[in-house]
Amino acid sequence: MDKLSITGGNPLSGEITISGAKNAALPILCASLLTADTLRLTNVPQLRDVMTTQKLLQGMGMRVMTDNVHEFELTGASVDKLEAPYELVKTMRASILVLGPTLARFGEARVSLPGGCAIGSRPVGEHIKGLQAMGAEINIEHGYIHARAKRLKGARIITDMVTVTGTENLLMAAVLADGVSTIENAAREPEVVDLAECLIKMGARITGHGTDTIRIEGVERLHGAEHAVMPDRIETGTFLCAVMMARGRVVLRNTRADILDSVLDKLREAGAYIEAGDGWIAIEMRERAKAVSIRTLPYPAFPTDMQAQFMAMNTLATGTSVITETIFENRFMHVSELARMGADIHIDGHTAVVKGVDKLSGATVMATDLRASASLVIAGLAAEGETIVDRIYHLDRGYEHIEAKLGGVGADIKRVGTAAH
Ligand code: EPU
Repeated sequence: MDKLSITGGNPLSGEITISGAKNAALPILCASLLTADTLRLTNVPQLRDVMTTQKLLQGMGMRVMTDNVHEFELTGASVDKLEAPYELVKTMRASILVLGPTLARFGEARVSLPGGCAIGSRPVGEHIKGLQAMGAEINIEHGYIHARAKRLKGARIITDMVTVTGTENLLMAAVLADGVSTIENAAREPEVVDLAECLIKMGARITGHGTDTIRIEGVERLHGAEHAVMPDRIETGTFLCAVMMARGRVVLRNTRADILDSVLDKLREAGAYIEAGDGWIAIEMRERAKAVSIRTLPYPAFPTDMQAQFMAMNTLATGTSVITETIFENRFMHVSELARMGADIHIDGHTAVVKGVDKLSGATVMATDLRASASLVIAGLAAEGETIVDRIYHLDRGYEHIEAKLGGVGADIKRVGTAAH
């Protein structure tokens, strides 16, 4: 199994090109199920979760052509297997995103229930409730969600909590429903906006995306389109935190500052010098970071997907920070691993208190989720000696060639192990 070996201490300098956003690419790939025509996607990140989605769609009968690893043409004319099997859903919860579009276009879908995962129980009740409000008949049998509806009907849906993939599933269902739907308390995440913009190019009638009320006027059918996936704001934020820890100056290209306001504000509070323009962000950090407290909340507040990386940064900061996780109940698994590197962190329920220490020391560490693994990599960049990050298949789910990108700006990082990525 592959590992990353990182020898800390090198400051970072140069440029990194940011990939397309994982959490926009996954729903947009699933949107191809809504039409028999061809959906052409560019800026698709080369990630394990994208490969899993491709496999899932191909298993349903989707024709997938790839000119190069970042460009996909998906044609849904021969989709005939309306099922997401347990074997794939268990490896990637986002497989639930085929439920809404498959049901809307074909009148039936069977999707394995995702079950628990490393960061919490993550139920999908809101997805099911919303589809039922649109007239779907849903049975849970043999571990599968079995949904049926001749044609979905427009409905007013108010979700109990803000859910990103829930909003995306209901949005993809509503675009082909008969009549008008509203999704209230909708997720405002930029990835939801990117999906909506792709659907509009396919002929959907959507307004209000990016606010907490999305209005959808159902149409009879959608057609093919071409769409470039938005940049990955979490990959961007992760490399910004890497510079905070390793220090230096790095310019991030093919990204956007306007969707990272809460993160950039906190980095400036920690002492970073940040400039941004059209498609780029530059960060310079020459001294020890100041501790910054954060509280994770739905967009536009501070993202849960950046919590672990800020925790890593705070371990070496001057002062004490308080980190409160309000989205997922079990997203502090990196704490015990950071502690093995010398961090001083105390957890009480959903809150972690981080006392900055003078140094971290390299150790063998591993994590059981994607962002936790990223936090260990950036901690390794600042630790004394060698850090081995084990089980990096989590990283490969969501970061494209992380070792090549960090190595390109001067980090001493290499992949060791059996299989090349
Ligand atoms: N929730 C429910 N019932 C539901 C749906 C959600 O109780 O029916 C709860 C969840 O348990 C959680 C909260 O609502 O406590 C928010 O969950 P959400 O549904 O928004 O999460 P998600 O859609 O499953 C997406 C991202 C995650 C990201 C979260 C929060 C994708 C594919 N995944 O998950 O990304 O952390 O939104 O922003 O978009 C990652 O990339 O590492 C990752 C985990």
